[in-house]
Amino acid sequence: MLTFKALVVAAVIASSNALTSSLQQITANFGANPTNVKMYLYKPTALAIPTPLIVAMHYCTGTAQAYFSGTSLAQLADQHGFMVIYPNAPASGGCWDVNTNATLTHNGGSDSLAIANVARYFISNMGVDSTRVFATGTSSGAMMTNVLMGAYPDIFAAGSLYSGVPYGCFGGPNAWNSQCATGERIMTGQQWGDLVRSGYPGFTGVRPKIQFWHGTVDTTLYPQNFWEEIKQWTNVFDVSATPVTNTTNDPQAGYSRASFGPNVQAILAQGVGHTVPEHETDTLTWFGLNSLTPGGTAPSSTATVITPTTTIVPTTTITPTTTTSVIPTTTSPPVGGAAAHWGQCGGIGWTGPTVCAAPYTCKASNAYYSQCL
Ligand SMILES: *[C@@H]1O[C@H](CO)[C@@H](O)[C@H](O)[C@H]1NC(C)=O
Ligand SMILES: *[C@@H]1O[C@H](CO)[C@@H](O)[C@H](O)[C@H]1NC(C)=O
Repeated sequence: MLTFKALVVAAVIASSNALTSSLQQITANFGANPTNVKMYLYKPTALAIPTPLIVAMHYCTGTAQAYFSGTSLAQLADQHGFMVIYPNAPASGGCWDVNTNATLTHNGGSDSLAIANVARYFISNMGVDSTRVFATGTSSGAMMTNVLMGAYPDIFAAGSLYSGVPYGCFGGPNAWNSQCATGERIMTGQQWGDLVRSGYPGFTGVRPKIQFWHGTVDTTLYPQNFWEEIKQWTNVFDVSATPVTNTTNDPQAGYSRASFGPNVQAILAQGVGHTVPEHETDTLTWFGLNSLTPGGTAPSSTATVITPTTTIVPTTTITPTTTTSVIPTTTSPPVGGAAAHWGQCGGIGWTGPTVCAAPYTCKASNAYYSQCL
């Protein structure tokens, strides 16, 4: 008779067999990393040369491993030949620093600098195409995607973010900004755009194109943030905040895809809460990677190879699907009776605590995930 543990092991093996490679910690010194962000790499066996890079960032309480196993980006990397880096947030709540001036400022420090530096290292040493570096993320990872778009427009070519807030919206002294989260931080497009331009004063290059997704019944990061993001990025690209086109039931029933020209796309998901599931193939299309295939000619100066010392095995049994995926629900419960701030406190399959440490209350994000806020 198979024990539960054996079943988990079997599922993990099945899931890693589906991939040509495994998730490995990046041990190379990639430059300044003031908050000690740990980086994990999925490098498929067959690469497109030069190689595009996607940085994929998890939600609060998530991990690099959970985002690796909970999305299909690694499978798509096998298919298309790009690399994926999954950074792991160092803060105790597992959220990204998206509020300090340091993280919001070009080369200012904190988590965003670590992510910028690992991308720079991969461009210089690992054969990554400097014109095809991308960012995606969910919730806190979506907010970080916006931070990177604002503070490091010189590195990133495009972003695709799921259920986030505008660049700078969380700015302030606290890691959690209730005013922004509840959609009460409302500004003009000019003000939002100025905030983006303050992330890297004097930057005159081409800015990354941006796609954002949001659910209409998101009660963690209210949907007003979707409308504020539209104001922000249409201002940055100096285009009208009225969509050029808006197609309904795209990419699926209940979703609508509004386009503001080639650089801004906003997808609203009717009846979807926090968070909109990653639509990886759609994101790849936005990045221009959907018809990429492995192969090409390696540059003459051979890149230094990172020797991984640790092989990371996914800790959850969720097998990536090829189209959309659901956020893993199996974050380890904290020891003790009550979940901490940002901790999980409920959802389908959750067996951990269902109460929150004072003064936080348990709020349902979706059927799979409730969080102490
Ligand atoms: C943010 O940091 C930058 C760079 O360190 C500094 O020039 C700027 O004055 C800071 N802004 C605020 C509002 O503290
Ligand atoms: C696009 O159209 C849908 C359906 O009419 C609407 O709900 C949504 O608000 C529109 N999106 C934008 C950005 O205007």
